[in-house]
Amino acid sequence: MSNSNSAQNGGGCGCGGGDDDDSVVNWAALVISLVALLGTAAQVLQQYIASAAGYANCGENVMGKWHESKKRKFRPTELRFEVRFQTPVIFVCPTNNLRGPIMGQPICFVDGTKESLVKTRAMLANDEERQRRSQESRVHTADNERASWVVLLSHLQTMENESAEWQKEHYKLNWPYRPSPVTFQQHTLAVALQPKERSWDTMPAGVKKPYATTTICHLLEIAAMMGIYWKEFDRSRDRYRAEGNGYLLTGVNVPDLGVMFTLQVTGKSKFRENRVIPVDEVKELCCGFVSTLFRESKDPRRIEFPNEDTNDMGFLQLGSMDEIAETMVQIQCNTDTANYFRSREAKHRHLFPVPFELLGMLGKTLHIRDSGFRMLPNPTPYRWDKKFFNLRRLVKEYRNRISDTDALDLPPNAQIQKLETVAKELVDALSEDMKSKTPGNSLPLLSKLHEVLDQCDDFLKKCDRDLVRMVLREHFQEVMRLINEKSTAESGHDIRSVNGGGGDKRRAEHFDELTAANPEQRQEAFMELYFFKVLRHVKTEAVKWYCRRRQTTQYAPSMHSREPSVKDIDSDSGAKGCTASAPSARPTTTTPASSPPPGPTTPPVPRLQKQESGQQRDKLQVTIQVSSGPGPNSDDGNNIPLMESKAAAIWCTLVLRMLCWLLLHDFDKKDVQEFPKSELLGSRLPVYIA
Ligand SMILES: *[C@@H]1O[C@H](CO)[C@@H](O)[C@H](O)[C@H]1NC(C)=O
Repeated sequence: MSNSNSAQNGGGCGCGGGDDDDSVVNWAALVISLVALLGTAAQVLQQYIASAAGYANCGENVMGKWHESKKRKFRPTELRFEVRFQTPVIFVCPTNNLRGPIMGQPICFVDGTKESLVKTRAMLANDEERQRRSQESRVHTADNERASWVVLLSHLQTMENESAEWQKEHYKLNWPYRPSPVTFQQHTLAVALQPKERSWDTMPAGVKKPYATTTICHLLEIAAMMGIYWKEFDRSRDRYRAEGNGYLLTGVNVPDLGVMFTLQVTGKSKFRENRVIPVDEVKELCCGFVSTLFRESKDPRRIEFPNEDTNDMGFLQLGSMDEIAETMVQIQCNTDTANYFRSREAKHRHLFPVPFELLGMLGKTLHIRDSGFRMLPNPTPYRWDKKFFNLRRLVKEYRNRISDTDALDLPPNAQIQKLETVAKELVDALSEDMKSKTPGNSLPLLSKLHEVLDQCDDFLKKCDRDLVRMVLREHFQEVMRLINEKSTAESGHDIRSVNGGGGDKRRAEHFDELTAANPEQRQEAFMELYFFKVLRHVKTEAVKWYCRRRQTTQYAPSMHSREPSVKDIDSDSGAKGCTASAPSARPTTTTPASSPPPGPTTPPVPRLQKQESGQQRDKLQVTIQVSSGPGPNSDDGNNIPLMESKAAAIWCTLVLRMLCWLLLHDFDKKDVQEFPKSELLGSRLPVYIA
């Protein structure tokens, strides 16, 4: 308007000079005020925009694709912008899980497929690396720009993708053997995430990058899955460091927040045959707990905290020397045995550390049928170093001994005969495996091992639990004694010469003689020692103590003063086993409590009975009558051999199971529980990933 006015004025005439001056001044004033107004407006605007603190820290260079979630939101009451963005909440769960920590939101699984990459807004590690490099050369940013949880996500995706691709390849190499491939859905352990919206307002001072959240137990599980082993784990000073498989994971305390972990890639990682078996029990193993074959699958998923009275051997705790000593006490070993584990001076190994033996005898089979993965996190503080022994040769020696009646010193019973055939089949499977394209983990061998383990489990579950415990106890007592007692005292009477290949050979009497044996003879000497010395001791002692205990507990008021509960029935049946043979226990052992729901299958004992010689059957019948007679304290000598033969069958089954379990599963040589973490099992303490 003023413009047109002045134009009119200017155009009207040239006579009014004062008018001209005025308009110039007006003009100048107008321009200046406009500039000032503009400046102020810009300043105000800049102030609003600048109030969106942290917006620049949520760029693509920091958060990868997650940067698309960032937005500014105007807060009218505070006259400023708030920055909101999404970061993942990362957790570990079975693949059929539907509920995450954030209610009512779907969860995205990390499974290595293209869809999963889109959903989790991640890239495979190689692509991620390439993109990061190109961004860095464009913007010249520092190396540590990217949030480490973005790196973590992409490496987890790579873990799933690479291992699935490896397994496909593995199936091809095992070609004539065609199992149904294991799918991601069959895994009971997977990493998943839910996006969570956060505000920059709540970022603690000093934190410059958006962080992801998880909990300490999930972090331990993820580290175990990725092959990262703890080198420092100091909870009181909040210093954490773990290394392995080309990664470095460090944790420090951040004031006002908690423990912040950072993942760095330091080298090449590999997720092939070394991938940890994706089963739920990994959660327990990485805290030093082991579910055993006696743990029913219908049990609540997580181990409930060590109820002191649990005596059902449902789980073992092997995370430190002290925990192993406790576990030995739990299977009722004497104090000597427990003390061997508490003492640093005592020896704990023969061919390999003894806790692995317990693990192999009782640990649940975690291999997924038809899968090629065998690796597990090591739950013990001992290194699993396969250099010093040969499990395959041990199986061969086991087979030689179990078919050697001299070694067994027993009338063969059905289970031992069965073990004999099974061992022969195993030896065949092992030599087939050596000829295959993937020696060591060819699928037919893994499937055979799995099958044998299942058979052993079936047998052991049907046995009287107390007798099994007694056999275990006597076994470990004897083994630890033989390891730690000096062999100087030659007992003389038990030395026999074996006509072996190279002339006179004395049978090893103590485990320390094994170290002197050369590697080819070591496993033979070991098995001889086991069968001639340990088995003989175990079968008599186990039965002796089993019967004594039965007789004393039989009169303990607690056992009979109340209605027989499930537990009582269990122990009751065992008590009868002492005087009578097992058939008398049959009606009670089929109660749902002591064994899995009895299917149409015949109970174990009659089958055993069927194959026994007529002479023995007579004995069985006699003992049945005894059992229905006066009572358990009539310690009839007749059935002791039968009990001993049962104990021997249990021992032979346990030893074969140990060999198979340790062949089927594997541990990384660098993986040890240096720091006890049992109190972190299932811990929901939040931790952060920078
Ligand atoms: C692995 O990733 C590639 C590339 O994204 C994809 O083509 C392939 O299907 C993935 N493999 C599996 C087993 O998910």
